[in-house]
Amino acid sequence: METNAEAQRNILGLQLPTDPRWVDLAGISMQEILTDHAYCEQKAATTCISLIQRYSSYDKMVNELAPIVTEEWGHFRLVLQELKKRQLVLGKQRKDEYVNQLIAFQVKGGSVEDRFLDQMLTMALIEARSCERFKRLSEGLPDAYMRNFYRRFMESEAGHYALFIELAEFYVNKEKVRNRWKEWLEYEANVINNLEVRGDRIH
Ligand SMILES: [Fe+2]
Ligand SMILES: [Fe+2]
Repeated sequence: METNAEAQRNILGLQLPTDPRWVDLAGISMQEILTDHAYCEQKAATTCISLIQRYSSYDKMVNELAPIVTEEWGHFRLVLQELKKRQLVLGKQRKDEYVNQLIAFQVKGGSVEDRFLDQMLTMALIEARSCERFKRLSEGLPDAYMRNFYRRFMESEAGHYALFIELAEFYVNKEKVRNRWKEWLEYEANVINNLEVRGDRIH
């Protein structure tokens, strides 16, 4: 029998190519890394708020996501602090082709359950990708302080990934979650491959 933790690890064993935006760390400035990161945290917080508004009767989800809003906003503030330390400003938000393409794959009609499931799985993927990005930064940045900085984020986003999968499985039949997750993984791998082909990095 697969334990829940094992099952989640297997799911996280994403057969995903590495996000090309984060391979060549040497070619990315701290300004780019921090600005991009700051907006990711901000979006994570605002998406959690939208989910709470949209699914206000989903008691467990509301209670679990409420503290995540605070946590993600705290992350945003930590990144702002790092920008400030370096006399950098937040700057403009880039167009996030990756997230836009994920949103395009979400079911638009269908049942509330189907839409909810896709929203949970989109968030799970985004968290998994953040986790991967922070892992790379925690291993590849030249500065020891920043490597440690990103190690903490990596752990936190891994926890969020697991939470979104858990919420999906709480409200939706597990088999259905698994099957849809497989479709998402396949789709997402293609999105990443296409980003790579086009040579997109972080803007
Ligand atoms: Fe975060
Ligand atoms: Fe997160």
